Formats: sequence, structure tokens, C-alpha cells
Amino acid sequence: MVRKKIYILGIETSCDDTAASVLCDGKILSNIIANQNIHETYGGVVPELASRAHQQNIVPVVNQALNKAKIVKDDLSAIAFTKGPGLMGSLLVGTSFAKSLALGLNIPLIEVNHMQAHILAHFIERKGYEKPKFPFIAMTISGGHTQIVKVDDYFKMNIIGETLDDAVGEAFDKSGKILGLGYPAGPKIDGLSKYGNPKKFTFTKPKVEGLNFSFSGLKTAILYFIQAETKKNPNFINENINDICASIQYTIVEILLDKLKIATKKTGIKKIAIGGGVSANSGIREKLKKIEKILGWKTYIPAFEYTTDNAAMIAIVGYLKYKKKNFTTQKVVAEPRLKI
Ligand code: KG4
Ligand code: ZN
Repeated sequence: MVRKKIYILGIETSCDDTAASVLCDGKILSNIIANQNIHETYGGVVPELASRAHQQNIVPVVNQALNKAKIVKDDLSAIAFTKGPGLMGSLLVGTSFAKSLALGLNIPLIEVNHMQAHILAHFIERKGYEKPKFPFIAMTISGGHTQIVKVDDYFKMNIIGETLDDAVGEAFDKSGKILGLGYPAGPKIDGLSKYGNPKKFTFTKPKVEGLNFSFSGLKTAILYFIQAETKKNPNFINENINDICASIQYTIVEILLDKLKIATKKTGIKKIAIGGGVSANSGIREKLKKIEKILGWKTYIPAFEYTTDNAAMIAIVGYLKYKKKNFTTQKVVAEPRLKI
């Protein structure tokens, strides 16, 4: 008898990206994302505008994901969606859509934790990529979160460190705002850093004990530094933008690495996986590859398309839960503060 293929539709609408993906037996067939450029005008995500844009995007994005995967909705085995954490209005769009579609097709519905998904994205089939072995340490670095997680199994995870204030993505975005780089500034700082001297300017690293982080002080230090320098030279930013960006990125990467070193010492685990939007950063990617040889670590770096918010990571969690028959019911509700 030929085994029936398992097709999972993943839906992600936790923040400002409307995303849908189709996965077949662990392999991604499509990964569609509609970014919402409207937020650039405001220098950050405006929740009300995000949920309205999700409502406009969700049907075309899901249709595109099905078309690209060359399947029709009746082929689907289950629907996985982001239950939380995220913005309530945004989560509601994906949750309601997933519930209605699963009900209409009479197929299982699977709830997914967005932060677990950033970590489990490492289990998507990729040619030549060795998946992490348990236990490993995951550092999830995004615009909303900064966490160090001990991962003992797919769904056995514990946060062992996290930020006490801003997320690392916010540190990039807020520093970029000070420099007039627009939103989101992370990728722009990354791009400009390539042409700059990372040691040109020094920013003090925050002193937080153990595995927790703090980024709000760094942002303030950068603001005061820029204010003082532009007072002396109004053209300071323009003349030094590459060096400023490289120095900011260098400092942030050092902060992240210092914590990873403590985490490996505390847990005795030297397998490190990164995930979330900031894991697209070339500075952290290069540094981890360099350091793994020196410190005897094994590092796992996600493919670019699975770093920032996407639905492929939701679909893989859906697949892992489908195999365990871990389904949810029509009573499920979105949870903006859902914990790992
Ligand atoms: O995971 P994500 O798409 O959304 C959240 O769940 O927050 O992460 C978005 C964050 C933004 O702060 C953005 O500036 C940052 O990831 N980001 C980067 C890079 N690409 C995205 N930060 C630094 N370097 C990058 N290349
Ligand atoms: Zn995210």
C-alpha cells in the first residue's frame, strides 16, 4: 500500500508579516511572506494597521502557498497556526482563519508557539544540513524576544536566560532610528557594517549577571554619544555611518557571545543553535563559525529564509505535532503572552 503523504499548511500572523507555507513530509514546498511596508512610515509596528493588513493579505498569501506547492486545499492533512506570543489583533486574524479552514475541510487543527517554532525551524529538511542533536542550547534573538533556551527534546524546552528590558532586535532598530536609518534598521546596520571599522567607537557592555540580558542602557549610551558628537560636528553621522554601524554591531555580537559562553559553562552543552530575525545578522553568523573551531562548539545557523518571521517554521512544528497526534480544538484562542 502506498503511504499517504502528509501535507501541512502553516500560518503565521503574530506581528507584521502575513505568512503561509506548505510542508510535505518534513520538506518545504512553499514559503510565502507578505511584508507590511506601512510600518516604515511610523518607525515601528502599529498594531491596528498590522491586523488590518493581515486581513487583506491572508487569503491571497494562503492561495499563493497552495499554488506554489501545486496542491489544492483538499489535499491538506492539517492546519498549523501561531497561537502566540505576539500582538493580539494580528494573532486573531491567523487563529480565526486557521480555525475556519480546518472546520470547513474537516481536518485537524494544530496550535504552535512562535518562539518554539523559531527553534524548531532547525528541523526543516535542508540539503546537506545536519539537524541539531538533543540536548542543545538555542539562542532566540528577534525584534520581540531575546532568550537562551535549553532544548532537551522537541517540546521539552526551558528558558535559562532572557532580556530584562529591550530585545536585541530592538537594540538594532532603536539605534538605527537614532541614526535615521528607518525601520527595521537591523538589516541596514548589518549592510553598512561591512564597510566600517568595528573598533572605531567603543560602547560599554551592560553588566547583567548570569544569563539574562539588558539592552536599554546600550541604546541610551548610543543616543548620548551621537548627541554629543553631532554637537561638535553636525555631519558626524554622515561622515562616520559605516564605522558607527560596525561598532554597534560588534558590541551587540560581543554581548550575545559572552552569554553563550556562560551558557555552555553552566550547562556543559556545547551545541548551539540560533534563531529569530537577528540570526540573519552576518556579524553573529561569522563570529559563531569562527568561534566553534576555537572553543570546540558545534553551531547551527538557520537558512536566511527561516530567520525572520515565516510560516515554514510553523509548518514544521505542525508536522512534528501531527506525528504525535497533538491536535487542538475549535475552542482554542490566541494568547499574546504565551510562554515556551
Ligand atoms: O523574528 P523577527 O522577524 O520578528 C520578531 O519575532 O520579532 O525579527 C525581526 C527583527 C527586527 O528587529 C530586525 O531589525 C531584526 O530582526 N533583523 C536583523 C537582521 N535582519 C533582521 N538584525 C540584525 N541584522 C540583520 N541582518
Ligand atoms: Zn519571530
